[in-house]
Amino acid sequence: MKIAIYPGSFDPVTNGHIDIIFRASAMVDKLIIGVLSNVKKQPLLTVEERIALLEATTHKYLKNVEVEAFSGLLVDFAAKKNASIIVRGLRAMSDFEYELQMAQTNRNLNKNIETIFLATNVHYSFLSSSVVKEIAMFGGDINSLVPPVVEEYLKTKFM
Ligand code: COA
Repeated sequence: MKIAIYPGSFDPVTNGHIDIIFRASAMVDKLIIGVLSNVKKQPLLTVEERIALLEATTHKYLKNVEVEAFSGLLVDFAAKKNASIIVRGLRAMSDFEYELQMAQTNRNLNKNIETIFLATNVHYSFLSSSVVKEIAMFGGDINSLVPPVVEEYLKTKFM
């Protein structure tokens, strides 16, 4: 059984993440979305809120996707879940240096786990969770950037 982890902070999940989740889930038997609970950045949403939004946007459509919080090393979480693949999205060249370093570090820590990169949909290459939060905070339109449930939830946060 091929199990992959798609890790991130997802504060909040955006359409860019959703695109990667749909495509990655079609490539494996099980995709576990790993939600980092000890985020270095100051998160807007709690880990429970981030998980709930991910579940609301994926569970109905994708039967082989699970969402789970993790802390500590990603490779340890992957090993605990019997995952042999880490999935990351690449938005632009600017992501590459950091992602390469992370992939090489993780490979150094555990040789049984491979990182694969999916090219982000070109429509979302500018997108990040911070961009979404900033637009929402100033009352801008995030309709095309996040799933409807996320849009509604962020409205309640910034009201
Ligand atoms: N579409 C839209 N946005 C995307 C995206 C995509 N396809 N891919 C990444 N992003 C955005 C995210 O929204 C996020 O935006 P933000 O900075 O505004 O919040 C940003 O890119 C990067 O965030 P994320 O993908 O969540 O990664 P991260 O850099 O915060 O963390 C982990 C990545 C969780 C994989 C990493 O921190 C980790 O493994 N931590 C565990 C500790 C560990 O094992 N360390 C050793 C390995 S280096």
